[in-house]
Amino acid sequence: MLERLDQLEAEAKSALAAAADAGALEQWRIAYLGGSGKVKAALAAVKDVPKEHKPAYGQRVNAVSASLAAAFAERQAQLGGAAPAGIAGIDVTEPGRIYSTGPGRRHIISRVRDELVEVFARMGFEVATGPELEDDEHNFVKLNIPPEHPARDPIDNFYIDEPAAQGKSPRMLRSQTSTVQIRVMETRKPPFRVVAPGRVYRPDTVDATHSFMFHQIEGLAIDRGVSMADLKSTLLHFARAYFGPEAEVRLRPSYFPFTEPSAEFDMKIRLRPDQPARWVELGGCGMVDPAVLEACNIDPEEWTGFAFGFGIERLAMGKYGIPDIRMLFENDLRFLRQL
Ligand code: DAH
Repeated sequence: MLERLDQLEAEAKSALAAAADAGALEQWRIAYLGGSGKVKAALAAVKDVPKEHKPAYGQRVNAVSASLAAAFAERQAQLGGAAPAGIAGIDVTEPGRIYSTGPGRRHIISRVRDELVEVFARMGFEVATGPELEDDEHNFVKLNIPPEHPARDPIDNFYIDEPAAQGKSPRMLRSQTSTVQIRVMETRKPPFRVVAPGRVYRPDTVDATHSFMFHQIEGLAIDRGVSMADLKSTLLHFARAYFGPEAEVRLRPSYFPFTEPSAEFDMKIRLRPDQPARWVELGGCGMVDPAVLEACNIDPEEWTGFAFGFGIERLAMGKYGIPDIRMLFENDLRFLRQL
């Protein structure tokens, strides 16, 4: 009787070694370890074993059963570990689920920024950059913003909390991209035309139209004989290229320390197809103040220039009908997918 069990074990093991895939393995499991399999049958056969041999027989059947179960697990692991269909309730024929929600794309602010740069590039403007961690020298002093000017109030700026270094201007997160005007004028010889898109920071209370971080695009053109008419025609060209051929531009007298004369500019644009076009305030501009040119060692008798700066969020919100600036930073996919 015990020999029959040895035979069963040997036969089962060679059949197991021959099972080469998950299907064959499952066949084997059913034939040997299954509910009507050969191991069960051998166990049932204990009733025909003479009484005095029953304990030895029973022990041997249990040992064969355990040894085959272990051999099965080992073979299963060898063949890739996956439980055959049916065992773990996995239907390997079921089509996979799609987890991706489609290809990603760039954020609307990045796309608008690139579009703006592209429009100005067609008018001969190159891209310039400057650091976001700036010093007070570039954010204020050389832009003709005196120490007592309210714009320098620590309440309105993100100054860096660090010990004052001897002879070094205090550092801050830039509050305007006008800093890049200074960086360009310090390092380049006119004539040039540049635009500088980038992030700016102000400790404003966040609401539908304010954010403590937003983007501006700055423009600066320095040449001989540049006039306010060049500024206005550049802005008009820009407005038509970005908002459409019917866009209009309006300049309103204003004041900025770094331009003289200065103006705010509005554009008449159609925010929604079902609404009439209306005037939207977009930014500041003007003729570069001679004091700013001098601070950068550019002779104001020879060179003149214009500058402008506007908020990129506002341009994006205007063109795409976005009612709240916070939507641009929340990264809610339901919003982003619409743009
Ligand atoms: N820097 C100004 C601001 O953040 C905007 C601005 C006004 C930029 C006039 C200019 C300019 O270049 O000429 O409010």
